[in-house]
Amino acid sequence: MNLTVLGPPGAGKGTQAQRIKKSYGLVQLSTGDMLRDAAASKTKIGRQVGQLIDAGELVSDSIMIEMISERISHDDCAKGFILDGFPRTNCQAVALDMMLEEKGMKLDYVIEISIDDEIIVERIIGRLNCVKCGAGYHDKFHPPAVEEVCDDCGGTEFVRRADDNEKVVRTRLQAYHAQTAPILPYYRERNRLRQVDGMASIDEVEKQIAAILDGSRTA
Ligand code: AP5
Ligand code: MG
Repeated sequence: MNLTVLGPPGAGKGTQAQRIKKSYGLVQLSTGDMLRDAAASKTKIGRQVGQLIDAGELVSDSIMIEMISERISHDDCAKGFILDGFPRTNCQAVALDMMLEEKGMKLDYVIEISIDDEIIVERIIGRLNCVKCGAGYHDKFHPPAVEEVCDDCGGTEFVRRADDNEKVVRTRLQAYHAQTAPILPYYRERNRLRQVDGMASIDEVEKQIAAILDGSRTA
């Protein structure tokens, strides 16, 4: 089973992708995480990518398409993958279908997590991740069960993303509305889009997605 999770910054793409990964044994392909790793490498291209992320602007389609095409060719993706943050433009959506067809694969589900713009800044500003295992938390909506200890791995160091500030989040949101939301009709017209209510609790959103993946609900 292969799927993609779409939605604006803070919609819960990463949070839900981590849960789907655990429940269904799929590989999570977060383009944001891949790009942050590339930026940390400090190569010339890594530095350029880092500047775009820090400004809240999209990285070029050619880089993204090559990155995903190469990654889904790895053996671990044969058991199924969750794309988290890809595609983000019409060009990427079309290229994804083409590359999957070439590899004899297909996208089984396109899940849109919809949320109101007003909640996005609060979601983003309160986000933190475990340094050791990457598990995601929120100061208010999803704190670790034991303060400052990761539920998953017991790690005690947490990190906040450099692009998680109000100014950059607003630019990221603009990029979503201008460049990513326009791909929703591409999937809707092909009857592939399924929507979940991202304003519900994390557990409730997970249940909505599971209902779709388990085939007991159509939208
Ligand atoms: P990326 O890392 O993908 O950032 P994003 O799209 O802005 O999304 P976020 O990761 O901020 O949000 P999320 O939906 O994953 O939310 P999360 O689950 O963490 O991309 C970063 C940058 O990389 C882009 O700006 C761009 O520059 C570049 N890039 C990436 N992909 C690209 C592409 N394909 N093309 C071009 N450029 C690309 O949740 C957020 C917080 O809310 C957490 O604290 C969580 O605990 C909490 N939360 C989650 N769900 C709920 C809930 N239901 N209720 C309450 N709290 C919740
Ligand atoms: Mg994310």
